Parts: sequence; C-alpha cells; structure tokens
Amino acid sequence: VRTIRARGLENMPVWTPDSWRSREILQSPKYPDSQKLLEVEARLSKFPALVFEEELESLKAQLAQVAEGNVFLLQAGSCAENLSDTSFEEAHSTSLLLKEVSSIFSQKLQKPSLQIGRIAGQFAKPRSSPTETVGDHTLPVYSGDLINGREFHSMARIPDPERMERAYFHSAQTLERLRARHQQVFTSHEALLLPYEQSLTRVVDRGSGYYASSAHLLWIGNRTRQLENAHVEYARGIENPVGLKCGSDLKPDELLRLIERLNPRNRSGKIVLITRFGSESIGLCLPALIRAVQRAGLSVVWSCDPMHGNTYSTASGYKTRHFENILAEARSFFAIHRTEGSIAGGLHLELTGREVVECTGGSAQIDDSQISGDRYETLCDPRLNPEQARELANQIFL
Ligand code: PEP
Ligand code: CO
Repeated sequence: VRTIRARGLENMPVWTPDSWRSREILQSPKYPDSQKLLEVEARLSKFPALVFEEELESLKAQLAQVAEGNVFLLQAGSCAENLSDTSFEEAHSTSLLLKEVSSIFSQKLQKPSLQIGRIAGQFAKPRSSPTETVGDHTLPVYSGDLINGREFHSMARIPDPERMERAYFHSAQTLERLRARHQQVFTSHEALLLPYEQSLTRVVDRGSGYYASSAHLLWIGNRTRQLENAHVEYARGIENPVGLKCGSDLKPDELLRLIERLNPRNRSGKIVLITRFGSESIGLCLPALIRAVQRAGLSVVWSCDPMHGNTYSTASGYKTRHFENILAEARSFFAIHRTEGSIAGGLHLELTGREVVECTGGSAQIDDSQISGDRYETLCDPRLNPEQARELANQIFL
C-alpha cells in the first residue's frame, strides 16, 4: 500500500488552483460573456475568506474522531439553496433542526455528534439532463442559483457569472446571521462550479498549501468524480476535508485510486465517503467498497446518503422519495458496517426546517397524491420535513 501511494505522489504533476483547467470537465456551464466571467473571477479573488483555516483544522480533528467511532456525523440541509431573502430564515431553521436531530442520535448512540450543514453555499447542481422540456418548449436546465435562474424562461437559463458574486455575499450574510445567533455551524457544498471555487482559493498561513475558503467541507458529486477529470484535480490540492459521493457504478479499485489521489498521505479526518446506492442496491455495493478500503489500510469517514439512490417520480411528475426507503437504506448501512467490522460514521440528509411536503411516508402517511405544488418548495430534490427528520433519527436505532 505504502509503495503504491508513494508512487502516486511522485508521479503527480504540480497542483495549482487552476491546474483543473487543463482537464476534461463535466457539468460545467458555458458562459456566453467570457469578459464578464473574467471580471467576476478577478473581484472574487480579492474577497475575504468565508471560512478560516483554524476552523478546517478543527473540523478535520473532529472528523478523525468520527472515523474512530467516537463521534456521530450529521451532514444535512437543502438539495439546493436559493439566493432570495427567505433563505436566511430557512438556513436558521434548518440549522436548528440539524442540532435537534443530531441530539437524538447522540442520545441513542451515547456519543457526541458533529453537524455540517448543506448551508450557506449549496447553490450549484449537477443535472442528469442538459435540457428541460415543458409542453413544446425546451430550455437549458436549471443548474442552481449560482449558475442560472429557476424560472422557465430562456433569459433566466443563460449562465450569468454575476451570480457567483451574489452567492458569495449571500453566503457571507447567512454565516454572519447564524454566528450572530450563536449557531456556529460547519458549512459544506458540492464543489461543482470550479471558476467560483478557484477564485475563492486562499493560501494557508502556515506552510505552503491552499484551501477553499467558500465552505469548510467541499464534496465531489457522483457525476463528476472521474479520476483524471477537473473536479478531482481541483479537490486534490486543497487542505479542506473532502467528501466523495459514491454511487453504485463506483468500482472498488476506482475508489482506492480516488482516495489515494485525494489523500496521498492517508491523513485521518480528510476524506468523507458518502455512499448513495438506494435501499435495493446498498447490500450489493457497500460490502465490496468497505473491504477494499480496509485491505488498503485507508482512513476514511463512512457516511450514508439514503436520499439520492431512492428518488422516484409521482404520476403527476413530482420528484419524491419514500420515507421507508430512506429508513431502509440507513438501517442497512449501519448493519453492513457492523458485519464488516467497520465504523459507520454518520448520515448525509436532505432536509429543511420548513414545513414542506416533498417526501412521502412517515407517520403523517403522506402519499403520492399529496405531493403537489402545495408546500412542495424544493428547487431540486425532495427533502425531509422536520417531523420526518425526527422520525428517521428515532427509528434508525430502535
Ligand atoms: C446532491 O447531493 O444533491 C447530489 C446531486 O448528489 P449526487 O452527486 O450523489 O447525485
Ligand atoms: Co440532491
């Protein structure tokens, strides 16, 4: 193992904040106004960091405790946040819910918990189709408020670089408001839009490294985790803890190469593997990944995202997820880790503090017909409402 890692390190070309630009990239918007893009990047690169180096060190130390099984990890929040004024209240209620739900886990498991929000920066979405069709009209798909607009209108769907600047100030204001209410949370989002992440990359004070200052933890999405592509290239150079979404097409060998690339020195608390197979597939997929990681002696945090493998559409065309499938995948995750003698670190959920009706099931027995425009507020994927989130926490470990 050691020789493979050492070889991997020696052969790697030098990393720079922009070395991703020479790699193939997926899910990347094409900005029609390239001059404007350059101007926004130049401005962003002078803005103050949104998160600080000491916070990253603290987060990595706590994640190392999660890897050891001493702390439970709850990473959660919206699928996609929006850039409107209502999102401040939502971030506030969601971070309160995060605290509440993780205290249920703490009580059940008799260990402290660590909360990381999908909050204050989760604005960019990878999509399965580049277009969206309504009736006879086809437009470029909505890619998150960081990139374009949700309205079904051709102007709104044009990628606009100025959204990056708005997102920066919106994140800053969200963080400021949470801090003012003594709700210091660690933040995270998918590192999808690399011009944004590069512009907010900062030099660490000590040593010679760099970190992403847009959030404490960044993760690589399931659609952009190709070993030699741009997103992995960017993530391998930052000091932040890095999450990696692992879907059912990820082969054990590929996973090992990704972990070695992202964490060549095998530092504890650096890598969070977020598995998202679906309740039907987890039993087939997870054991092989766990065994490969164990055999290679790699230190990782294992986290279960029981949301993204369990999405379906209702007859009326709404994306939803059934509570029972979410619960089933989460339970399987803990059972499989127990069987394999591995540490199940925690959960990655899409939830909101708002009283939405987006996922089916739970004690309110929401069925498909109740998933309608009414209280279906998500910009992207369906989230657990507060009651469903509490129920999930209470039912995973009965
Ligand atoms: C998400 O977390 O919202 C997401 C798009 O997940 P994945 O990359 O696992 O599909
Ligand atoms: Co999602």
